[in-house]
Amino acid sequence: MTSISKAPGKIILFGEHFVVHGNRAILGAIDKYATVTSEKTNTNNILISSSLGQASIEKDENVSNIEKKFRPFFYIAKEIISKNNFENGISIKIESDIPIGAGLGSSSACCVAAAASVSNLFNNTNEKEVLELSIQAEKTIFPNSSGADCTVSVHGGIIEYQKEKGFLKIETENEFNFLIIDSEQVHATDKVVEQVKKFKDENSDIFSELCSEEERLVTKALESMKSNDLETMGKCMAQNQIYLEQIGVSNDILLSITKEIEQITFGAKITGAGGGGCIIALTQKNNDLSEFMNTTKYQTHNVSIQKTGMQVFNR
Ligand code: PMV
Repeated sequence: MTSISKAPGKIILFGEHFVVHGNRAILGAIDKYATVTSEKTNTNNILISSSLGQASIEKDENVSNIEKKFRPFFYIAKEIISKNNFENGISIKIESDIPIGAGLGSSSACCVAAAASVSNLFNNTNEKEVLELSIQAEKTIFPNSSGADCTVSVHGGIIEYQKEKGFLKIETENEFNFLIIDSEQVHATDKVVEQVKKFKDENSDIFSELCSEEERLVTKALESMKSNDLETMGKCMAQNQIYLEQIGVSNDILLSITKEIEQITFGAKITGAGGGGCIIALTQKNNDLSEFMNTTKYQTHNVSIQKTGMQVFNR
């Protein structure tokens, strides 16, 4: 049997970084996907292939010895093999149309699709178990992960997420459209998260005040989303961008993209860790942004929120 799973990438509409420190964040699944194909094999090895390379690793190898780019997938296969007392190995092929290192949830979507695809080889597609496994897999390379990205990739749609409380689906009549502008500066999430922790340690009062402001902003943003008030939602995004600048995760390039695009959209902000990666701008389906898209030197993508999360198929 060949098992295939598809899982969406994400944008963070509100609350990145603050979510790592216990605040709420709002995330949406987007129509860009990671696809993982897996099979049981007759060898003793775990085979992993992706655009980053290929590896064939003895399944008894220690997870911490595995190269970072293969580690989460090795971890997933090893956990499932051991849980099912399976004697042989597994092959995992990862394909993705989500840009890497851009803040669009590429690594989480790959972890979710791999966890779902390999679990399905043993007839288990339980969403809760797939989510737990994918979060643990992501933590093998990014121990401070809030788990928000994997959660929205499993469940799809728009979610409110808090580390302590888990997630809540947000029902809205609008599917919302965004223009993503990729600064093409690759960022390292763990480094930016570490930098924010340093900011928090050195400015604890300011950081705590910003967390409270961000909480109030999330409440206002949720109301605007539920009432389809795009003007207010865009203003909330612009305000969130200011808070991200205050904690030091923006830079000159991100700021200049934000300033330019917010003049022709409802509002714009960094999405994800910052320090590079992407800007998202709230648009309307019929907005004609072709002039900007044709003249900017950056890559742009039109995306909408996807209601469906991870999916699993057999072939
Ligand atoms: O840039 P990304 O896609 O890795 O998103 C990181 C989001 C953070 O809030 C900065 C970290 C997290 O684990 O939530």
